[in-house]
Amino acid sequence: MPARAPDTEILHPDAQGVARACALLRAGALVALPTETVYGLAGDARNARAIAAIYAAKGRPALNPLIVHVATLEDAEALALFCDGARTCARAFCPGPLTLVVPLRAGHGLAEAVTAGLPSVALRVPAHPLAQQVLAGFGGPLAAPSANPSGRISPTRAAHVMAGLSGRIAAVLDGGDCPVGLESTILGFDAGRPVLLRAGGVDVAALAEVLGEMPAMRDAGSKITAPGQLAAHYAPRAPLRLGVTQPEPGEIWIGFGPDCTGAALTLSERGDLAEAAMRLFAVLHQADETGRPIAVAPVPETGLGLAINDRLRRAAAPRPL
Ligand code: TXA
Ligand code: MG
Repeated sequence: MPARAPDTEILHPDAQGVARACALLRAGALVALPTETVYGLAGDARNARAIAAIYAAKGRPALNPLIVHVATLEDAEALALFCDGARTCARAFCPGPLTLVVPLRAGHGLAEAVTAGLPSVALRVPAHPLAQQVLAGFGGPLAAPSANPSGRISPTRAAHVMAGLSGRIAAVLDGGDCPVGLESTILGFDAGRPVLLRAGGVDVAALAEVLGEMPAMRDAGSKITAPGQLAAHYAPRAPLRLGVTQPEPGEIWIGFGPDCTGAALTLSERGDLAEAAMRLFAVLHQADETGRPIAVAPVPETGLGLAINDRLRRAAAPRPL
């Protein structure tokens, strides 16, 4: 008989739960944690075995580097070199849903696999109180990709984590729903000039305002890339169509705004983009559970709508076999 997978502990969002999470992480085990964006699958960023276990639990390609989470901006600057633009953004948006890709400092101490061998590291200071408590209690950097099997929809509640990774990780700290609901905005720098690597929880217009210039959009010719930005990602099991105002029979229709009467699910009935961002992955999980093809109403390409449409396009993209 095959060995039974070990049970994944569900930890309560209290001092005892946080202490247990820290003890497991210190022992090199993996714990899914809530952040304000999505749940992250955390492991000790200095422990090569813990990092290997993250890639294995997710089925993640080894060439796709992980985001390193730290408690404070000082902790971030101890690991990497911040140019003026990076520091300006960090001061404005950390802690929060922003990740900065910056060159590693010598003697950083991170396991090599965290950055997939790149000379740069993606750093984030999460604002979620439970993530902050675990980082403070653990006392070191935590690598944490989104806590979903590679290529699947990101988790915004503990039940999503359990559905994807139960039996493959030590524990999940249950902090309820993630308030932002979309992953962090990722910003890199090319000779000091900002480059948007992934749209996300911080609006690009807000970044442009503090930077005094619009970040360049990453393109095929860019020297700087986010290796994980694959065309097909966030994939539900069933096919997904976008911009649908008139669903086909049999499709489950996800609406946006007050005009989508008859939609089985909605991102935001009142057409609010922050609400749509917060609900996006939970609604996709829910639609996917029906097993029916999914149709999504148009979402405006403004503000958080850029990040929402980015995730939807990748959820709809043809999948590699
Ligand atoms: O909100 C978030 O960012 C969540 C929470 C848990 O923090 N994390 C998250 O991680 O979305 P993940 O692994 O699903 O996405 C990380 C992205 C990948 O596309 C990866 O390629 C990129 O960050 N990345 C990581 N390190 C990088 C580096 N050194 N250079 C460029 N891109 C990097
Ligand atoms: Mg992810």
